[in-house]
Amino acid sequence: MCLVSVTGLLNAQAQTPIVIKFSHVVAADTPKGKAALRFKELAEKASNGRVRIDIYPDSQLYKDKEELEALQLGAVQMLAPSVAKFGAFGIREFDVFELPYIFPSRDVLNKVTQGPIGRDLLKKLEPKGITGLAFWDNGFKIMSANKPLHHPADFKGLKMRIQASRVLDAQMRALGAIPQALPFSEVYQALKSGFVDGTENPASNFKTQNMDEVQSDLTVSNHGYLGYAVIVNKKFWDGLPNDIRTELEAAVRDATTYANEIAQRENERDLADIRKRGKTTIYQLSAQEQLEWRRAMLPVQQQMASSIGKELIEEINKQASQAAE
Ligand code: LMR
Repeated sequence: MCLVSVTGLLNAQAQTPIVIKFSHVVAADTPKGKAALRFKELAEKASNGRVRIDIYPDSQLYKDKEELEALQLGAVQMLAPSVAKFGAFGIREFDVFELPYIFPSRDVLNKVTQGPIGRDLLKKLEPKGITGLAFWDNGFKIMSANKPLHHPADFKGLKMRIQASRVLDAQMRALGAIPQALPFSEVYQALKSGFVDGTENPASNFKTQNMDEVQSDLTVSNHGYLGYAVIVNKKFWDGLPNDIRTELEAAVRDATTYANEIAQRENERDLADIRKRGKTTIYQLSAQEQLEWRRAMLPVQQQMASSIGKELIEEINKQASQAAE
């Protein structure tokens, strides 16, 4: 081979970017979708074209459970599954996020996800061949159905879609409902066909999946939380050139700040948009009703304590009471 073509080959190799496939299940116009795009922008800029981030939103590549398997196999390099998805994946401590009423506020939540408890939780992913990079916020959940949901008794006999989580299963049973685990991409159709009667999610997911077309009533209950762990295939991540990994870590940090800044605002805006669209009646619980909901669901904390880890729950409760002082 002549010298010119060898140089050409080397140049071509130098220009071939490292491609990171980032798959997720929600719409691009959600807190997670926007944070993923921000990460792409920051990472590609910082690496000066040496890294390309290809984002696949809306379950285009994989549904919930499949995406975790794909990450382990290296078919994709990056995901941000909701924290609810890790319990069934064998990391029981993550179930703590699903406990009803465990986080009294976003402040307490942020102390947990952005502090030592969060770091320890992310470390637990390593034996699965996964490196945990960050937690991204979404928000507190609303409940919906095709009837008003004012009291726990209103849930009796309703088939409620949940993410595949033992805690969410217990939560729905505590309300007298029948839980049905389904991938996120199937929820709209399941509601439309009547396969399930209702569901729970933050307003951003409810709106972007047009669930208001197929649910007549929603209750702003804030009974539980939904957020994300940003994760990568460990082997891929460890094999990156050091300078690139450092740039990507910085991009994740900045995208995390952005994600956690916009999440609450976006969910408030999306709830207001649902109200404006006028298809679903939005109900705010009275103080007395909030108490009834808490009483019905709080026993789930006790019920799940031994499998999640009593110390972890106590640690979070401690953060909550410190914040209340
Ligand atoms: C769900 O399945 O309801 C959510 O986890 C979807 C998501 O990623 O926000």
